[in-house]
Amino acid sequence: MPNLNDILAQCTNVLPGHGPMMTLEIFSPQEQVLTDEEILSFWQMLSAPDQTEWDYEDNEEFYRKSDEDVIRFFRSKVLARTAALACWARDDGEIVGMASIHRHTEPPKEHCGELGFSVRQAYQRQGIGYRLVLAVLGKAREAGLQRIESSCFADNESAVGLLRKAGFREEGLRVGAIKKHGRLRDIREFGLLL
Ligand SMILES: CC(C)(COP(=O)(O)OP(=O)(O)OC[C@H]1O[C@@H](n2cnc3c(N)ncnc32)[C@H](O)[C@@H]1OP(=O)(O)O)[C@@H](O)C(=O)NCCC(=O)NCCS
Repeated sequence: MPNLNDILAQCTNVLPGHGPMMTLEIFSPQEQVLTDEEILSFWQMLSAPDQTEWDYEDNEEFYRKSDEDVIRFFRSKVLARTAALACWARDDGEIVGMASIHRHTEPPKEHCGELGFSVRQAYQRQGIGYRLVLAVLGKAREAGLQRIESSCFADNESAVGLLRKAGFREEGLRVGAIKKHGRLRDIREFGLLL
């Protein structure tokens, strides 16, 4: 696996396809003071239809929070959560991607973490998801985690491709594990030993 510092060094480069004005920065939201606008930008990214396929209809009320509620929720709960490792991508004040690992805190899974990721649609297919995942894996390794797990809908080719590219191995299929719009959906399970 590449060295975390090498990955982060690459991440301030100008990205091809976005012109000379776009610079991408990958950072840990827990290590910086975030503006309210950045928190709202992050929330807007996560609430986009292409990002919420997993759980939107079950948590509709949760996603309909007011700006004040979103900011309060993030400052008091999400950013203060010590069991989460996170890397966000920022382009000129806009949050355009994230990868996070939720750490299990109890034995026998305290060596494990659960990876999730998301990149704003207009920024996809430019290597941002890959850089974010490698950056947060580097943090997980520094924190002493030994195994990372992730799962996605069986037909989510972009997530599957990203996980494979980052070194994850497919470990199984949970047939009909999620019910969406009355239809049973299969879940692919992935794992990586750090
Ligand atoms: C999954 C996601 C984060 C990928 O982000 P991204 O920045 O576009 O990914 P990258 O450009 O870094 O691509 C990394 C690899 O992922 C795969 N990939 C990405 N998009 C793909 C697509 N549309 N189709 C097939 N493979 C794709 C490729 O293998 C790619 O490697 P390559 O460029 O060498 O071919 C993004 O598509 C997304 O936000 N999807 C919606 C949210 C989601 O599904 N999250 C996971 C829920 S479990």
